[in-house]
Amino acid sequence: MTHSAKVSILTAEPRPIAACRADFPGLAQEINGEPLVYLDSAASSQAPNVVIDAVADYQRHDHANVHRGVHTLSHRATDLYEGARDAVQEFIGAGSRTEIVFTRGTTEAINLVAQSYCRPKLDAGDKILITHLEHHSNIVPWQMLCKQTGAELVVAPIEQTGQVDTRQLIELMDDRVRIVAVAHVSNALGSILPLEEIIQAAHHRDIPVLVDGAQAVPHLSIDVRTLDADFYAFSGHKMFAPTGIGILYAKEALLETMPPYQGGGDMILEVRFDGTTYNELPYKFEAGTPNISGAIGLGAAIHYLNSVGLDEIAAHENRLLAYLTRSLEGIDDIRLIGTADNKASVQSFLLGDIHPHDIGTILDHQGVAIRTGHHCAMPVMDFYGIPGTARASLALYNNEDDIDRLIAALAKTKEIFA
Ligand code: ALA
Repeated sequence: MTHSAKVSILTAEPRPIAACRADFPGLAQEINGEPLVYLDSAASSQAPNVVIDAVADYQRHDHANVHRGVHTLSHRATDLYEGARDAVQEFIGAGSRTEIVFTRGTTEAINLVAQSYCRPKLDAGDKILITHLEHHSNIVPWQMLCKQTGAELVVAPIEQTGQVDTRQLIELMDDRVRIVAVAHVSNALGSILPLEEIIQAAHHRDIPVLVDGAQAVPHLSIDVRTLDADFYAFSGHKMFAPTGIGILYAKEALLETMPPYQGGGDMILEVRFDGTTYNELPYKFEAGTPNISGAIGLGAAIHYLNSVGLDEIAAHENRLLAYLTRSLEGIDDIRLIGTADNKASVQSFLLGDIHPHDIGTILDHQGVAIRTGHHCAMPVMDFYGIPGTARASLALYNNEDDIDRLIAALAKTKEIFA
């Protein structure tokens, strides 16, 4: 297949959402003798054929290193890799492709901002403001930074529903706060944070805002310029792309002020023993041979999401989430964790006093995959005084049958523990 033929695969025809399930080969299998019901997309989503094929085609026909070769394969690999960057730029509404840095994932993107943007600016007594519902990847990099600099980590409280107490968050934005770092959507609770209000309030006090968008990008239409986010981080593998690839979006003016995060090949213009000059944006932040196939897979996933339409996806998932919540509420002894008004794609719950791991194991025996445990959000579990939850999470390929199967499997779980 020629390079131009592959590009045309990526410019996909509109895809009706009801037809999408058939695009995901991973869903068409039996687990423990039952058709798979996959309700763990918040941990990692399945990949559609277009993503699998884009990665395989690249590996079969176009693999070479990027930005380095004069030969045809290197040009093809570079075009595909940089084409993926263009797709990301358009997908999140960034003003320039120079603002799109490929990373290993959300975690690396947040560490990059902590170490490159914040660390040089922080003095002892400065503050980093986060919220109580953050994923560990939006807590631990800041704790490490506080140890390195003497800065203080300040945590804004959440309410019983699992929504951030926005009033208190804004009150905590004093003149020692150097960055506000918040999730767009909570991975454990599903709450959608009121980002516009938070970002406006922070900017009013000249505080930049980092958004952990890992749980938002496959579900909500994102426009970083409308949001006016300073940094927006997300991962490929929760949006139908491979693992090991993610994005840091950052405003160009901020990236310009930041030193490189890692040194090595590709991030330089000239290396001499008496000094090195760094490459232009965004390459200054992409040391070493990048995850080329992952980026190409991410580009293909974005084309796929666009072909279905983010508005259609959000409407479909909102309907399903309402059905999931109603159906769970119909079970005796169920306790829903995360009941904010504005939510996306996730419902955590407890069933009587059955340990979440037992729920997950018994569901797996019935072909139903959910996540159980603390969901890399231990402070959220502490807030509710529980060791963990069972969590069902939705993606565009789920349907009402999946939820009915979950509910039936939970009924069986109760029977076993009765
Ligand atoms: N952050 C991922 C989750 O929520 C792993 O499951």
